[in-house]
Amino acid sequence: MLPGTNSKCPEVFFTFLFIFISALLFSQTPTEPSRIILNPLESGHTGVSITWRCPREVKENYIQWKIADPHPIHSETILDQQNASFQLDTVTYEGKTGIFKSFRAQLTNLAPGTKYIYRVGSNSNQWSEWIQFHLPEASPDSIFSFIYFGDPQSDLHSQWSRTIRQAYSTAPESAFLLYAGDLVNRGYNDREWGDFYRAGDFIHRMIPSVMTPGNHEYEYPILSPLWKTHFTLPQNGPEEIKELYGACYYIDYPAVRIISLDGTRLENDRKLRKIQAKWLEKVLSVTDKKWIILTLHQPFYSTKASRDNPQIRKALKPLLDKYGVDLVLQGHDHAYGRGMLDENSKHPVKAGTMYVVSVSGPKMYEVGDQKEWMTKSTENTQLYQVIKINGNKLFFECYTTTGDLFDSFVLQKGTNASILIE
Ligand SMILES: [Fe+2]
Repeated sequence: MLPGTNSKCPEVFFTFLFIFISALLFSQTPTEPSRIILNPLESGHTGVSITWRCPREVKENYIQWKIADPHPIHSETILDQQNASFQLDTVTYEGKTGIFKSFRAQLTNLAPGTKYIYRVGSNSNQWSEWIQFHLPEASPDSIFSFIYFGDPQSDLHSQWSRTIRQAYSTAPESAFLLYAGDLVNRGYNDREWGDFYRAGDFIHRMIPSVMTPGNHEYEYPILSPLWKTHFTLPQNGPEEIKELYGACYYIDYPAVRIISLDGTRLENDRKLRKIQAKWLEKVLSVTDKKWIILTLHQPFYSTKASRDNPQIRKALKPLLDKYGVDLVLQGHDHAYGRGMLDENSKHPVKAGTMYVVSVSGPKMYEVGDQKEWMTKSTENTQLYQVIKINGNKLFFECYTTTGDLFDSFVLQKGTNASILIE
């Protein structure tokens, strides 16, 4: 060693260099789009809405798409279309402004029965991966299926994830995923929403979601702003009732009209119960769809011993009977039960409307033994349902989260009410 040199100099230099590079790397906010999810348009077989999140530093984002083919994408010039449309959305909640931007776009006038690819992002920031989705056929006679989940709600990443992944394994060609509310436990908690996306991962990017809010998405009487941030749902609910946006709407496919009602408002708000009943009668009376499926969170008939919602039955059940609603998909009671009822019955019958309560997450309640409306029930079991429509028949299959068939039935379309074929 030369006189006057310090043996520790190189060590100090490299330590500072390491700290400097680390600071540089970690100071850069990742700009890759996250929380990408598809929702159907009002016409579910002709397009999709796409919603995603970026850090607020991202100025603009785009969507690119084309009809899918099996060839690698070497250049953007091969894209059939490129569009720069997006919406900027910042959200304030709990007195704070969120540090992100939610972008959204719609792809309309797409070809039914066709597979597309898309990605979101920008050249100046980052792009998502290319993602495939397919649209149902235009013919009402073509086979059509979807997956129905009761409340995910709790332990979304650690325990609900296996349910959605098993469901996808069972029915990967589903037209959409239907959520009957309580997707999270605290609707204003952004971390729980993050877990919802971690659990579903690419499935939410590939298969459109139809969701109706539950009471846990509310800080009553306010529906969490994060609901509207995350999803782009049809705005065809009762006119000028902003409280019901994203909760009360319908989606049409060639063979079926799917109707979502805001169960929490139905349960608690007399005025909005009346408005929704009036709107429901209108959308039931004008449709020519063969099948009508209704979803809401709070059930017409409960599985839990201490629960009942007579105000919902009183306001809406006569409409379901009058217009022959085939199937009602519900949650809230954290168990499974189903039974078919007509306008007069309190016990299961063979023609009428089939009411179902189910649960997909790990939070569980017991099934009441005095609940005589049910034909079949179970408790303490995570479940998902695959519903397939083929012409005049609807096939309902309920699976456990391990992929085993637990329950099934078939509905045959009658002149008004459905007929149950076990
Ligand atoms: Fe609930």
